[in-house]
Amino acid sequence: MLRALALLIAAAATAAIAQDYPVKPVVIVVPAAAGGPTDTLARQLAVAMGGALKQQLLIDNSGGAGGTIGINKAAKARPDGYTLLLYHIGMATAPALYRKLPYDTLNDFEYIGQIADVPMMLIAKKTLPPGSFAEFLSYAKANRDKLAYANAGLGSASYLCGLLFMSTIQAEFTTVPYKGTGPAMNDLVGGQVDFMCDQTTNTVPQIKSGNVKAYGVTTAVRLRSLPGVPTLDEQGLKGFNLVVWNGLYAPKGTPKAALDKLVAALQVAVQDATFRTRLADLAAEPVPVAKATPESLRTLLRSEIDKWTPIIRKAGVYAD
Ligand code: MLT
Repeated sequence: MLRALALLIAAAATAAIAQDYPVKPVVIVVPAAAGGPTDTLARQLAVAMGGALKQQLLIDNSGGAGGTIGINKAAKARPDGYTLLLYHIGMATAPALYRKLPYDTLNDFEYIGQIADVPMMLIAKKTLPPGSFAEFLSYAKANRDKLAYANAGLGSASYLCGLLFMSTIQAEFTTVPYKGTGPAMNDLVGGQVDFMCDQTTNTVPQIKSGNVKAYGVTTAVRLRSLPGVPTLDEQGLKGFNLVVWNGLYAPKGTPKAALDKLVAALQVAVQDATFRTRLADLAAEPVPVAKATPESLRTLLRSEIDKWTPIIRKAGVYAD
């Protein structure tokens, strides 16, 4: 009798919590430094989802170790609906790169949904002599021991693009790792490093203001917002195609009622006109609603782990 009463009270309490969720700001852990592409996407999403949830979403930048520090922080957070994780393709590369990951990528998280796809661009400091990609290729091969490539650490999107680019042109360069491409971009604009492959949410403003040079985009077709920048594919790197997908997660055990509200808010956000316009200005594309679902993200993450693991294994790189 007492047990039944206790269960009843607990159920009522859970229902009340579910009904009022969220009653305080929700934190999104971003495993990359402030000011970079993932931070930019997270801040746009926080506005759009905050409107739908009628609550503030705050960003916690926890960069480093190719994103695994922030991912682990979110995995270990209290599963109460008030801590989320926003991360990209790096979720799929870490299992191959880190032999001792402190979390289980596929089983330590609840899935909320995909958010947006972000193309990447090969860019360089504005003082680098080559004026075109063709000139850059011969210059880079002739100066491979002098050029410094910036990235956000092993497993990051900028690392993966560099890995693909270097293996495609058969040339290695010194790489300079940062906690994110936000700080890397500052050094590129300042001329401390020479080139980088980074997401358009970070490159477009710098290209438009003439702070960096653009040699090409990593998509199969040119970007509507940057029609003048050719693809790497059309410039001879046949089949070069890399777009950064992004997903939203919560710690395993987060109440279903909270997850349902988060999925609904994400679906409102990806259709939100302001969110869509802001991303379009940065050449990024919110996903269709059908992809802003737990199933779609779970399926994508699994297939991406299967895709990147052999590529990384072939490169024979380990982060630990
Ligand atoms: C960032 O926000 O800094 C990027 O996502 C880093 C990267 O993965 O290249």
